[in-house]
Amino acid sequence: MAKNTYEIESSVARSVAQGNHREAVGGLWQHIGELQLEVLKSIGLKKSSTLLDVGCGSLRGGCHFVEYLEPGNYFGIDINESLINAGYDKELTTAAKQKLPRENLQVTKDFRMDMWNKQFDFAVAISVFTHMPMNDIRLCLAQLEKQLLPGGKFCATFFEAPSKPQLTPPLLHAKGGITTFANKDPYHYLFEDFVYLSQPEWQIRYLGDLDHPRSQKFIEFTKK
Ligand SMILES: C[S@@+](CC[C@H](N)C(=O)[O-])C[C@H]1O[C@@H](n2cnc3c(N)ncnc32)[C@H](O)[C@@H]1O
Repeated sequence: MAKNTYEIESSVARSVAQGNHREAVGGLWQHIGELQLEVLKSIGLKKSSTLLDVGCGSLRGGCHFVEYLEPGNYFGIDINESLINAGYDKELTTAAKQKLPRENLQVTKDFRMDMWNKQFDFAVAISVFTHMPMNDIRLCLAQLEKQLLPGGKFCATFFEAPSKPQLTPPLLHAKGGITTFANKDPYHYLFEDFVYLSQPEWQIRYLGDLDHPRSQKFIEFTKK
């Protein structure tokens, strides 16, 4: 079984080829897309900020970020080329394409994000840690630590297990109806897991579900 269903690239590519690039990143396209921009603005994103979207997929959030940010300031990485291509080709307007150099979107493994020789003001990973085991989250944070400016902010979502006894069995999240697991995708975590993973390089703040339609919880990491 894949530790992360998105690592089965052929299956993602098949779904995208059938025209399902929106569903392939979880659907609720408009709602979750707009929510991402709203949340990032609420923690300080400005038009002049630079932003790295980790697991940008088919640009559900990217469309809104590109429209909001100054030209050239949005960057994205993903393991699935099919999603990035569908996002760029099918979801961006002509005006948006002019604001987003194609090389700002890169297919990478192992969270490589140093190819632009750039440090960012902000980073975001929406519905990404929800698909990953903890070691991958640790690796992602380690890479991000190098690519964010001091004081830079990273916003991520996760499915929350409210207490230790609730970690082990499958957990049904009433809002959204998703069942998550301790050891397979989609994963749930304790907030304390992120407190542990973020030491000592990050300050961490629990933001709650912020009306996420599937009750994913938002965390703000600030690079010390
Ligand atoms: C549920 S989708 C969310 C996409 C996007 N963040 C959004 O909100 O629409 C999860 C995304 O994470 C990407 N992903 C999964 N594992 C990854 C990894 N190890 N490195 C980069 N991207 C990854 C998937 O290919 C997919 O595009």
